[in-house]
Amino acid sequence: MSDAALAVRGLTVHFRVRRGLVGSRVVRAVDGVDLALGPGETLGVAGESGSGKSTIARSLVHLTRPNGGTITLGETDVTSLRGAALRRYRRRMQMVYQDPYDSLDPRMTVRDAIGEALAVRGLSRDRRPGEVARLLSRVNLPDALAARYPGQLSGGQRQRVSIARALAVEPDVIICDEAVAALDVSIRAQVLNLLKDIQRDTGVAYLFISHDLSTLRFVADRVAIMYVGRVVEHGPSLELFAEPLHPYTRALIAAVPSVTARGTKRLHLAGEPPDPANPPTGCPFHPRCPEAIDECRRVRPELTVVGPGRSVACHVAVRSFRSPRSAAEPSR
Ligand SMILES: Nc1ncnc2c1ncn2[C@@H]1O[C@H](COP(=O)(O)OP(=O)(O)OP(=O)(O)O)[C@@H](O)[C@H]1O
Ligand SMILES: [Mg+2]
Repeated sequence: MSDAALAVRGLTVHFRVRRGLVGSRVVRAVDGVDLALGPGETLGVAGESGSGKSTIARSLVHLTRPNGGTITLGETDVTSLRGAALRRYRRRMQMVYQDPYDSLDPRMTVRDAIGEALAVRGLSRDRRPGEVARLLSRVNLPDALAARYPGQLSGGQRQRVSIARALAVEPDVIICDEAVAALDVSIRAQVLNLLKDIQRDTGVAYLFISHDLSTLRFVADRVAIMYVGRVVEHGPSLELFAEPLHPYTRALIAAVPSVTARGTKRLHLAGEPPDPANPPTGCPFHPRCPEAIDECRRVRPELTVVGPGRSVACHVAVRSFRSPRSAAEPSR
């Protein structure tokens, strides 16, 4: 296996949306995103509603065709695969959704849903029941549940079945798009612990999309923060939560009391994210940013490396790293 399970470079997804009878506008849902994910690693992706998280996920599993960029899995460029090659690749990247009904057919028993995935893996019919039992026990569900339909399960059980089904094809990467968002807090913690155990045992990598920063802090090794289609901050989870660099990241963290770092200046995130079809000039966050300077209104900040594994797209934050005074005092 290569060092990167998954590498995304310059991913761009624009939707042309009709407006009225003649006009149309282009929604820049994802606008030049780079992401890398190593085997056995968890990359968290956060950002407000509409920032492009699910569009990235859908591009990765070929449900949305990107306008630009490349997606590499292991050694293979999978961006424009078709036919049999695409089917082979699809197995290596699985998705677990917020609503298990998006991946589970309500008319199929648990046994058949998992069995179908095992058939995709090429497992012979006589070996499937044993493997279904093994997968159910892997997600801490009793074998007796195999005869049930999704509608006869609790939310947590259904999500465990979705995970078992994803695991059935032995993927390299599982994309969890708000996979625990609909679960009660105690069930959520159980499912997150389960995902961690599975990762430890199998080395599967997770791309973990969540609104909930406390969830990401618990599961993610690294975190990427998105704002209107772009990554605005990226870094190791511990450092990013202890010392967020982008004012937007600070505002997101400040909104979650349980993850607020000691001494972090509390910021209130006022207003709404901009229209992705018509973002403001300069830094798209500047109209909401308490620290904006003139440059922010004029020049769009690029994602800039400011430390090992850390990058930020913010003129003010990058300046503070460059000025000698703040070198001794990077947290401002
Ligand atoms: N098929 C589509 N056609 C047109 N616009 C779309 C389409 N899919 C997504 N969009 C737009 O792209 C942007 C990003 O949407 P996306 O669903 O990726 O956001 P998200 O970060 O997953 O949000 P949420 O947190 O609400 O799930 C939004 O402005 C959305 O309206
Ligand atoms: Mg989404």
